[in-house]
Amino acid sequence: MVKKFLFGILSVSVLAGSSFAVDGKTIFKQKGCTACHKETINTVGPSVKKIAEVYKGDVNKMIAYLKGEHPAIVDPKKAAMMKRFLGKLKSLSDEELKALATYLATGK
Ligand code: HEC
Repeated sequence: MVKKFLFGILSVSVLAGSSFAVDGKTIFKQKGCTACHKETINTVGPSVKKIAEVYKGDVNKMIAYLKGEHPAIVDPKKAAMMKRFLGKLKSLSDEELKALATYLATGK
């Protein structure tokens, strides 16, 4: 009983710690993506808000796009401009890619 309780606390703190370490928004900034993508206004690229509206929270579809396995659906005419930046994401771990995809697909 006590053991179970302690394990509960431990796993909650581990989870909280890792979600802090891999924050999608931070990765987005670190990779230089914010140069073309602002949070709410469309600039060179569509805003994160706009991207999230199109993806409607579909994290798996976003992961596929980021891996180059799904075509662009937000602004396909400009897809070539975006494509070379996907290469920057090759070094991300699965967990980091998922955090980034969650941020982009949900806007949060
Ligand atoms: C030089 C400007 C530029 C940079 C830097 C840039 N993007 Fe983009 N991005 C664009 C443009 C333009 C579009 C619109 C074309 C499109 O929808 O593919 C776009 C579209 C997207 C989309 C929507 C894809 C879809 O389905 O249409 C995602 C997601 C995205 N960018 C993520 C990123 C990430 C992650 C980074 C950083 C690694 C990044 N962008 C860096 C210009 C940029």
